[in-house]
Amino acid sequence: MPEVILFLADEEAMVALGQRISQVTQGAGLIFLEGDLGAGKTTLSRGIIRGLGHTGAVKSPTFTLVEPYEIGDVRAFHFDLYRLVDPEELEFMGIRDYFDDDALCLIEWPNKGTGFLPKPDLTITITPHEHGRQLKLLPQSPRAESWCAALALEFK
Ligand SMILES: Nc1ncnc2c1ncn2[C@@H]1O[C@H](COP(=O)(O)OP(=O)(O)OP(=O)(O)O)[C@@H](O)[C@H]1O
Ligand SMILES: [Mg+2]
Repeated sequence: MPEVILFLADEEAMVALGQRISQVTQGAGLIFLEGDLGAGKTTLSRGIIRGLGHTGAVKSPTFTLVEPYEIGDVRAFHFDLYRLVDPEELEFMGIRDYFDDDALCLIEWPNKGTGFLPKPDLTITITPHEHGRQLKLLPQSPRAESWCAALALEFK
């Protein structure tokens, strides 16, 4: 399946997409979030984590690298690797333990962890656009292909 291109006009639309992503993934998978500073990676992550049922704040894990969530029987991990100096640090923090097939992992700045991260199900690339943001959804696994097929129909 080819990539899916979506245009989202504002923060509210971004959060709404996040909510649908939480539903189609059913709280399991590995998603890379790419895009420059301020692109909207954390905004989308907040939509996803809230969509899983989390009611509290979703803070950017810029300094902690990872923020864990337990929502009912769903586990989610939100990473921001922007401040990672050496990708080898990921080994020391036991990154492999997070990539359980039953957990949902969202990773901002995955390129900072090159060589130490598994292949994602889905890579979302966010770029500024004159009417908000363009999102490119690239499915890299069979389950992500079905997520994208569902999302493409709804967010046209
Ligand atoms: N679709 C959209 N259209 C216009 N503005 C948006 C859209 N989505 C998010 N924004 C705004 O863009 C900003 C994105 O900030 P956010 O923290 O989500 O970016 P980020 O990609 O996580 O940045 P960083 O790399 O610093 O972590 C917020 O001010 C948000 O309101
Ligand atoms: Mg962010």
